Amino acid sequence: MATNRTFTMIKPDAVEDGHIGAILEKITASGFRIVAMKLTQMTKADAEEFYAIHSERPFFGELVEFMTRGPIVAAVLEKDNAVADFRTLIGATNPAEAADGTIRKMFAKSVGENAVHGSDSDENAAIESAFHFSGREMF
Ligand code: RTP
Ligand code: MG
Repeated sequence: MATNRTFTMIKPDAVEDGHIGAILEKITASGFRIVAMKLTQMTKADAEEFYAIHSERPFFGELVEFMTRGPIVAAVLEKDNAVADFRTLIGATNPAEAADGTIRKMFAKSVGENAVHGSDSDENAAIESAFHFSGREMF
C-alpha cells in the first residue's frame, strides 16, 4: 500500500451516539478521500488480534470488551502525509488532553471510549487496512 493512506475506525461509542455522519464530514472536510468503508462488528478474536500489541496492558480486557460491544465504521483514508495528519485530526488518546477542534475533543468520552482509531505508522496502516478489507474493496 502507498504511504499516503491510513486506517480508521469510528468506535462503538461514537456509532451508538449517532456521530458517524458528523465524524465522516470532519474527515472529508479535512482533505481525506475515503478509499474503503464499511459498517462491521469485530468478534472477540478480531479485537484481540487487532490490538495484540496491547495484550499485556492492564486495560486490554476492557478494550476488547468495548471494541466488540457494537458496530464500528472501518475505513481507509487517502491524503498526503495521511498517518500523521490523521493523528493530528483525531487528537490525543485522552480527550481531556485533546486539542480544541479535534475529533476526540468533540466526540470522545474518556481515554477508553475515545470515538476513533487512527493508525500510528505507515506499516500499521497497511496491516490494519488488510485486516478489514480485501484489495477489491479498496479504491
Ligand atoms: P488508537 O490505537 O485506538 O488509535 O488509540 P491511540 O493510538 O491514541 O492509543 P493506544 O495507546 O494505541 O491505545 C489503544 C486504545 O486503547 C484504549 N486505551 N484505554 N484505559 C486506558 O488507560 C486506556 N489506554 C488506552 C483506548 O481506546 C485507546 O484508543
Ligand atoms: Mg494506537
